[in-house]
Amino acid sequence: IETPKSLIMLFGATGDLAKRKLFPSLYNLYRKGKLSENFAIIGTARRDWSHEVFRDHVKDSVLTARKTAEKIDEFISHFYYQAHDVTDSESYIQLKKLADDLDQQYQLEGNRIFYLAMAPEYFGTISDHLKDDGLTNTNGFKRLVIEKPFGHDLESAKALNKQIRKSFSESEIYRIDHYLGKAMVQNIEVIRFANAIFEPLWNNRYISNIQITSSEMLGVEERARYYENSGALRDMVQNHMLQMVALLAMEPPINLTTNEIRSEKVRALRSLRAIEGEDVQKYFVRGQYGAGNIQGEKVVGYRDEVNVDPQSNTETYVAGKLMFDNFRWAGVPFYIRTGKRMATKSTKIVVQFKDIPMNLYYNKDQQLNPNLLVIHIQPEEGITLHLNAKKAGQNMETTPVQLSFASSSMEGINTPEAYEKLIYDCLHGDATNFTHWDEVALSWNFVDKISNVWEEKKMEFPNYEAGTMGPKAADELLEKDGFFWWPVE
Ligand code: BG6
Repeated sequence: IETPKSLIMLFGATGDLAKRKLFPSLYNLYRKGKLSENFAIIGTARRDWSHEVFRDHVKDSVLTARKTAEKIDEFISHFYYQAHDVTDSESYIQLKKLADDLDQQYQLEGNRIFYLAMAPEYFGTISDHLKDDGLTNTNGFKRLVIEKPFGHDLESAKALNKQIRKSFSESEIYRIDHYLGKAMVQNIEVIRFANAIFEPLWNNRYISNIQITSSEMLGVEERARYYENSGALRDMVQNHMLQMVALLAMEPPINLTTNEIRSEKVRALRSLRAIEGEDVQKYFVRGQYGAGNIQGEKVVGYRDEVNVDPQSNTETYVAGKLMFDNFRWAGVPFYIRTGKRMATKSTKIVVQFKDIPMNLYYNKDQQLNPNLLVIHIQPEEGITLHLNAKKAGQNMETTPVQLSFASSSMEGINTPEAYEKLIYDCLHGDATNFTHWDEVALSWNFVDKISNVWEEKKMEFPNYEAGTMGPKAADELLEKDGFFWWPVE
């Protein structure tokens, strides 16, 4: 299908996200012929750059992401730059003039995407100006793409939402959660709903627990100013982790339209049990990394990172036990954990099935392993099914076997980047893999109850060493229920 003609106006064009993800993704779309020739991009930011400087910057970013880039000069000729002050109407009037000119020049039919890839405190202001200064007044479509964080808690998220809804309708707002652009996150639904052997078992009769791990080796890097006020709960759980939980827990949608899928996810999030007050201690564990070793290199503790308060109470690790109060999931824990400076960079989902009613093959040296379905989100992409089979030889002994599908070895290593997919979807007006306001609100509501308790009570930090899988309490969380974290390394 042909991609609609469009002008993309990028706020925060000199920033890190644009450089690392957005330009290379746009280039990939261009290279694959998935961007119409009728496209133009206006980058804006405070810096006083010329079109040429900006184009060189874009070229640099693409060439950093990949060694060679055919047609790169043609590609960057579509890029324009306008220095911009986000609070000044005069700036928007100039932007509008450039947008109108490019609209003519590239015959863009008035289609406009406004992409906010910058400090969240300006999201509301920009959105107001886009309307008040006439940029949204166009004959084609208008869409707002908005990066995280969408608010800091439910209250601020509501205020932000109210403000942007003055200029854009819900269906014109594309709230990015880049996990929803990952190939294997998108695959969760397909694995569940396209396979007769999973969906009938996908409930509390056959599944004993589900574990979702998203571990990182990086520390806080240069983002302490943001992260200090965020922490892992807001940074990862409110969005990425709960989105994966919702996709695993939702009921089958009646079809694959955006509305049906989103409304099933919303329903799942509505049945998530609130964890509050005394229960927060029982169901959630927080951690902060101390000094340690990452792949043989010494790293400092969180409190010694640049721009971090030496007494900081910010969590860099969260583990939690989530329960759904609905027929499908009653009694089945969903364990999540995520953190920085852990032993490995890995995102995996382990679905542990219940034991069979009795073990005919009991052997003191070899217990039967439970069946596991492992969904590898990253860095590898694939699925592994853990089964038991007969050991070679005379005796009726069992041995664990694994059936694996690695999507990289099938489709070539070039699975598109999350951002590439999401930009493509937005150009096509498909909001399925973006978060609806109701999902955002329910997630904040869940997370706020936990952070309220945590803010009241300081922790003895640090409580895990950099380069490990987190605090001991996270292991105990599962041990109490008779489970353990399946290794993800
Ligand atoms: C971002 C968080 O949303 O996700 C970062 O703000 C985190 O702190 C990142 O590092 C992880 O994304 P990925 O794709 O590397 O797992």
